Amino acid sequence: MTDKPEQDRVVIFDTTLRDGEQSPGATMTHTEKLEIADLLDEMGVDIIEAGFPIASEGDFEAVSAISKQAKNAVICGLARANFKDIDRCWEAVKHARRPRIHTFIGTSPLHRAIPNLDKDQMAEKIHDTVTHARNLCDNVQWSPMDATRTEHDYLCRVVEIAIKAGATTINIPDTVGYTAPRESADLIRMLREKVPGADGIVFATHCHNDLGMATANALAAVEAGARQIECTINGLGERAGNTALEEVVMALKVRNDIMPYRTGIDTTKIMNISHRVAAVSGFAVQFNKAIVGKNAFAHESGIHQDGMLKNAETFEIMRPEDIGLAATNLVMGKHSGRAALRSKLKDLGHDLADNQLNDVFVRFKALADRKKEIYDEDLLALMRDTNANAGGGHLQVRYLRVVCGTEAPQSAELTLTVDGTDHEVAATGDGPVDATFNAIKKLFPHNARLALYQVHAVTEGTDAQATVSVRLEEDGKIVTGQSSDTDTVVASAKAYVNALNNLVVRREKTKPKEDELKSVS
Ligand code: KIV
Ligand code: ZN
Repeated sequence: MTDKPEQDRVVIFDTTLRDGEQSPGATMTHTEKLEIADLLDEMGVDIIEAGFPIASEGDFEAVSAISKQAKNAVICGLARANFKDIDRCWEAVKHARRPRIHTFIGTSPLHRAIPNLDKDQMAEKIHDTVTHARNLCDNVQWSPMDATRTEHDYLCRVVEIAIKAGATTINIPDTVGYTAPRESADLIRMLREKVPGADGIVFATHCHNDLGMATANALAAVEAGARQIECTINGLGERAGNTALEEVVMALKVRNDIMPYRTGIDTTKIMNISHRVAAVSGFAVQFNKAIVGKNAFAHESGIHQDGMLKNAETFEIMRPEDIGLAATNLVMGKHSGRAALRSKLKDLGHDLADNQLNDVFVRFKALADRKKEIYDEDLLALMRDTNANAGGGHLQVRYLRVVCGTEAPQSAELTLTVDGTDHEVAATGDGPVDATFNAIKKLFPHNARLALYQVHAVTEGTDAQATVSVRLEEDGKIVTGQSSDTDTVVASAKAYVNALNNLVVRREKTKPKEDELKSVS
């Protein structure tokens, strides 16, 4: 299977779960990875790079599980240029209906120096490893890492070797985000013209955003004949990130007049997955981020608003609905019924079964009692909260009262339900959140380090919900928790407890006989 696209079809290869997740601090849990993979598959991503199976047991398990779960997408795993990596990768992806092995080696002078291989030795290694991968799987992608800083004659030579050894896709990475659009295009054009056998091959572009040119570089490569774009949701990725999926896909859609290529992406799913990736990675989307930023469709200045009211096209080059943002955002209030909620959530990408709807409806009513106007963002936060807290967990916040003011210290009274039994405690701290976290720690002592604490207002106004993300680290393993509430301290307590519940699950997985509840006073 070569996945050779038609002439104008650009294949979307999403690497949110590999290159994106590799970004320091963006670690996702197993369940979160499966959820994101499912959303990617549903939105029409052609290839999902699900992870780096040799990197850890967790990565291996996630790639295997995603391979079993995927309905349409090709599932790809990453492997360095050695047999052990490639075998492990195959073990994980072989469960997929359409598996792919992606193997790579750094080919630039700087990268060749690391394994201390000369050009001939590296060429031989490429031949042997690609041949090995192809003997296992008929869909093999090969990448010369740091291609944009590799000598052109050597790049042509190794690409030819990889093609002859059986690679079906050749990916050209701009690993350090160094190239510029014209150069990106020239490189693809040069390879397609000079390398024997290039005709039957899909060329891919993989750009990093260190100079802010990742999207432009990817699109330039497409114009020169690349037919696979490697990208991530929200541009997540190491350092300044990767090409953003939503940017290239929408650019090809909106400017199809000058870039006549198409993708298979259902763009109406963009907003939902953007929110989910931001939530599970803990990497918030900047307000003015193209396509998915909170302000991307906001028109505040008088001139803009006047123009928009007369004709939306005056200042908008795409419609909010195209990316899954409802045209009118003000939606519901406390008189809205179950049917209206179901239909609104469906519009927002959440098709709920009756029992799920009952649970969400109770939460919706509770929110509507405290907040007069419920916006789409509020409902999406409610859904994130429901998903993050699905299954209950060992710990639950039952009651919280904080006293804060100009006089330190601040204090918190907390009732925490631990496996069905209520425990009460009081604690002080440096501010209400610190006092609350100290109270939780008293009832559930642990050594996990608070690696991230982030608060985002879901909408405008003083009654807006706050979404809080918490990341905890224990023995090098990361767990996250999220929650939303109109009270920032309550959202913080729930997010912290959500992270602790995930920590308990993780500990139970690694040490099944340990009884965590012994530590609860
Ligand atoms: O940026 C890069 O070079 C990579 C490779 C592993 C393809 O991510
Ligand atoms: Zn990369």
